[in-house]
Amino acid sequence: PREDFRVLETVDSTNSFCRRLALEGAPDGTAVLADCQTAGRGRRGRSFQSPAGKGLFFSILWRPDCAPEKLLPLTALSAVAVCRAVQRVTGVRPQIKWPNDLVLGGRKLAGILTEMSLEGESGHVSHVVVGIGINVHQQPEDFTGEVADIATSLDLSLGGRVCRARLAAALLEEMDYLRREVLFTPERWLADYRAACLNVGRTVRLLQGDARETVQALRIDEQYGLVVRHEDGSVETVRSGEVSVRGL
Ligand code: BTN
Repeated sequence: PREDFRVLETVDSTNSFCRRLALEGAPDGTAVLADCQTAGRGRRGRSFQSPAGKGLFFSILWRPDCAPEKLLPLTALSAVAVCRAVQRVTGVRPQIKWPNDLVLGGRKLAGILTEMSLEGESGHVSHVVVGIGINVHQQPEDFTGEVADIATSLDLSLGGRVCRARLAAALLEEMDYLRREVLFTPERWLADYRAACLNVGRTVRLLQGDARETVQALRIDEQYGLVVRHEDGSVETVRSGEVSVRGL
């Protein structure tokens, strides 16, 4: 059963809000949905544009009792869950840009920010917040600055009006399913992830910390790492970082 569900009009960031709830002792499975974020956060310290009435800004709090390594696949698997939710509501399945951006028609549709907090003594996970932002009703003029040329929304890509409530319901269900399964059967999603991943077989720009490099993306390994070939021919499995493809 759903333990706690908060629906907010405006918040700084649903991830930050969820973290504050976690520190107050909120239970496993607590979910937060906001219509608008004033300080939506993306990966690598970027901001995430979150205008009122346009998107789905959602975070879920998990309290798995496990070592952090067990949650390595979580970042990738959340993307599969979001793809499934989008497909259930629209009939269209987005692609995944490793590790977890959702792409539709060559443009970014959704982003995911996973933040983990560890317990001091045991080194175990004290909580993890998975934050998902999906562009739903945005029109071209709603995307400003650097995302103007790379972002899309469901309405724009599919040419209709997609129902945010139905999408939120599907997302909650898919994320709950993932929460119950992720520690036990991460391999169950591998085929779906590989089928959706758009990087494999391509030349991509790899960003790790401040380093940038052009590499060949070879495949996704069993732990959802990206196996790449460097320009000097050496092969490495990348477990964190980001890749860019044609401006995306
Ligand atoms: C990215 O594309 O770099 C990740 C974007 C994640 C955005 C979502 S919106 C809901 C949640 N709250 C945040 O502040 N960020 C995530």
